[in-house]
Amino acid sequence: MADVKLTNVKKQYDNGFVAVHDFNLEIKHEEFIVLVGPSGCGKSTTLRMIAGLEDITDGTIEIDGTVVNDMEPKDRDIAMVFQNYALYPHMSVYENIAFGLRLRKVPNKEIHKKVTEAAEILGITELLGRKPKQLSGGQRQRVAIGRAIVRVPKVFLMDEPLSNLDAKLRNQMRAEIILLREKIRTTFVYVTHDQTEAMTLGDRIVIMKDGYVMQVGTPQELFNHPANLFVAGFIGTPQMNFFDAELKKDRNGYTAKVEGLNVKVPKHIADALDKRESVPEKVLLGVRPENLILTDSGESIGASIKVTEMMGSEIHIHAELPDGKNVIIKVQIADLDDDQQNEMLTRHGIAFRIRERTINLFDPEDGRNLAVSDAAAVPTNE
Ligand SMILES: Nc1ncnc2c1ncn2[C@@H]1O[C@H](COP(=O)(O)OP(=O)(O)OP(=O)(O)O)[C@@H](O)[C@H]1O
Ligand SMILES: [Mg+2]
Repeated sequence: MADVKLTNVKKQYDNGFVAVHDFNLEIKHEEFIVLVGPSGCGKSTTLRMIAGLEDITDGTIEIDGTVVNDMEPKDRDIAMVFQNYALYPHMSVYENIAFGLRLRKVPNKEIHKKVTEAAEILGITELLGRKPKQLSGGQRQRVAIGRAIVRVPKVFLMDEPLSNLDAKLRNQMRAEIILLREKIRTTFVYVTHDQTEAMTLGDRIVIMKDGYVMQVGTPQELFNHPANLFVAGFIGTPQMNFFDAELKKDRNGYTAKVEGLNVKVPKHIADALDKRESVPEKVLLGVRPENLILTDSGESIGASIKVTEMMGSEIHIHAELPDGKNVIIKVQIADLDDDQQNEMLTRHGIAFRIRERTINLFDPEDGRNLAVSDAAAVPTNE
């Protein structure tokens, strides 16, 4: 069993700056956890504390039920891959992968077995004789990962391992990390600021901002039920739209009035609202661009088109409401023929409605999702 538990973990650097406040997380055996958030939110600091490369100011970190607060990194049975993986330029790929094992005085025969196995898993067997400068970026990356997996550690820590690669290689390596994960069953903690990596790799995602955990959940939970405005805006492209709305309750349930349009509040939100002590009248209604539906009839919101972006299989319409508010609508166009697509791309005005079951309601005061209990407030930089 290699579970990792962080309890009330805090990091205050020597200059007094608090990089991580009260971090709590139980990582299950063989779980793939992704830490994601904007630059400076404390991802690397958290990872380095798990690795033991950074002292913790407060709280406890346990690996496999043992408190490791004061345990040396080398005794924690972890492996780490950094963004700036440095390979030894004068050594072959084989020797680069074998290096850590040689330091540990592992017998040659065993080293050979482990290096060939790791090379097999990573598909770099034919590169073992080469020097790092004879490799592509993605191949070097694989060698760096190879160096880490020869040991099958209890916990595998990765800090933005793909951020130096171009978009195509990054996609390819992302898929390879998913495969790697199938082959070596261990616990992963993976840091990225890329939401696509987070969504595709994580069993669960931890979203951080300014040293605070904003939400922990599966990709689907975060996407469909973001705990606050920060998470709602961070996950998903283009960004979720937010509208001022007025919330009313009558015998048929709750209705949110947006730009003159009555939006029926779905049952799961209505139930959550009924459980609250108070329900604000003014709320922010969040709805993703793909859940604004163009319509020619019925109740709708009208907008004038400012910019239309052709993305290939979909278009992003940037439009403006009569009150000057901007809105983004994502339209799938795979089903439209060329003439219909052209018509769509040359329009000046549109009318849309809101796919009601997909909405989220937020408290404009603290940014919390009104239907997510225990939602974290968005920190304000006072
Ligand atoms: N040694 C240090 N002393 C003081 N402050 C530090 C130190 N190291 C990092 N910080 C600060 O702590 C905060 C968190 O840093 P950290 O490296 O954990 O961020 P990050 O989320 O990994 O960001 P990035 O995506 O840019 O890598 C930042 O504001 C950073 O400036
Ligand atoms: Mg970092």
